[in-house]
Formats: sequence, structure tokens, C-alpha cells
Amino acid sequence: LKIFSGSCNEPLAAEVANYLGMELGKIDIKKFADGETYVQLQESIRGCDVFLIQSTSPPTNDTLMELLIMIDACKRASARNITAVMPYFGYARADRKASGREAITAKLVANLLTQAGADRVLALDLHSLQCVGYFDIPVDHVFGQPVLLEYLASKDIEADDLVVVSPDVGGVARARAFAKLLNDAPLAIIDKRRSGHNVAEVMNIIGDVEGKVAVMVDDMIDTAGTITKGGEVLLNEGARSVIACATHPVFSGPAIERLSSGVFDEVIVTNSIPPVHKPDEFPQLTVLSV
Ligand code: R5P
Repeated sequence: LKIFSGSCNEPLAAEVANYLGMELGKIDIKKFADGETYVQLQESIRGCDVFLIQSTSPPTNDTLMELLIMIDACKRASARNITAVMPYFGYARADRKASGREAITAKLVANLLTQAGADRVLALDLHSLQCVGYFDIPVDHVFGQPVLLEYLASKDIEADDLVVVSPDVGGVARARAFAKLLNDAPLAIIDKRRSGHNVAEVMNIIGDVEGKVAVMVDDMIDTAGTITKGGEVLLNEGARSVIACATHPVFSGPAIERLSSGVFDEVIVTNSIPPVHKPDEFPQLTVLSV
């Protein structure tokens, strides 16, 4: 068994190797002057089960291409089995043709990974369950929920004080499962409407949040528009405080500014993507290891 890390999240790959009592495999990943990626394995993997750990998070195009090149290098070096371990699977949000003349990038990426030579994919909290079906190779879909729930349980918030909130209708199944495991906490749903990509507008809250500690659950925080607008509405509706919980801290554009604007008592994420902030810029952030 060999584990190699892409350049996106080496600290997480090192943690995984350490947990298994192994060293990360030696690999040379560089950029040519024109920005093209070069990969060379620095040890034999002939006949090995190879695990390539790479989140395809910003810069998504680069990290995805790097993973494809790593897979190709492993295939050509006679690996027995190649598993792409993707703590964050980018391009998953376009998982259906929501309007005419759009691409389904989640399916395209599944095709690319398979075509490059991956035998198996292990992904953490895919944006939607149907992404698993886009692959004709086995996919192990694992969840960050147990890690987030264990941490929340350690905070000893009274069950009667809690409400779990889905920031949009698409996330209800995820939030409902979360609420069930959080002592069957009640559920509220935000009716989010979008006026464009990365622009979230909140309309209504379905459910009772008055006087409660509202725990908002999402798969990812990207620009933080969804979760911050939702948090503001929850406070306006009388929530006592708001905690944001998400597996993937994509944190692009104005995310840090929005998340530290005073809406949230705490923002809890995992290390599926390495944090892009300095701890003193954002003291409300808790990063849990998956
Ligand atoms: C949407 O369906 C996702 O689950 C997230 O709510 C969304 O992608 C977060 O994006 P942003 O932080 O930019 O609002």
C-alpha cells in the first residue's frame, strides 16, 4: 500500500499516513514556466494499491488536473489499484441540467477520473448523493457528520435550546439527519432563493427559532453568502445565537469577512480543505480533523 499527496492538502495526507503508521510516498510535483503541471513518482509502485489524496479545491482547475496527471503517472508505473481520495470533490454543484445549454460538471469530472485510470474513488461529503451514480467504478462516500456531531455534543447545549437549520431546501435531508443524531433536535428550514451564481437571497424561515441556539448545517461554505444571510435572518427572528457547521471550508472571495462580521458565535468546519486564514483573523473558527 502506498499513499501519495497532491499539493492541495499535504497536512491532511500526512495525518492520514501518520494514523496508518506509514510515510507518505515520494513524489515530485512541479509547474513548468507556462503553468503546466509535471508529476513524477520518486519510488516504485509496481503491483501496489495506491491511494492519491487530493482535494480538488481552489484553484480547482489546477488541483483537478494535478490529480488526473497523478493517476496517469500511477497507471503508467503499473500500480495494481489506484484510489483517488478526494476530501473535497470540486465541480460537484453542477450535478444536473438545471436550465438549458448547461454542462453537468460533476458527471464530467467522474468521466475524467475514470478515463485517467482511477479504479476507485473515496469522497467526503459529496454535494449530492446522485454524484455517486455518475461513476461506473466503486465510490466510497464518507461523511464529516460524526466529527462535527461529536464536537457539538461536547459543547453540552441543552437539547431544548437547540434548533438545527438547513440553509436551503436542498439541504433538508442532510440537516434532518444531523438533527436526529443531535438528540432529535427540532428542524427549521430557510427558503433561500438565488438571483445569480454565488448570490444568495433569503426569503422565509419555516420553523420556530425564537430563543434557540440555531445550528446551521451545510456541506460547504464558499463565499459564505448563503450561511451569513441565513444567520442574519435567524437572529432577526429571535434566535439567541447562531453556529455555522459545514464540512468544506472553500472560503472564497468575501467569505472570511462575512463569517467574522458578528453573526456567528462559532464557525465549525473540517480540514477537508486547508484553512486560508490566519487564526487571529478569525478566532470564531474551529477546524476539526477528518
Ligand atoms: C448550495 O447548494 C450549497 O450547499 C451551499 O449552500 C453553497 O454552495 C454555499 O455557497 P456560498 O457560501 O457561496 O453561498
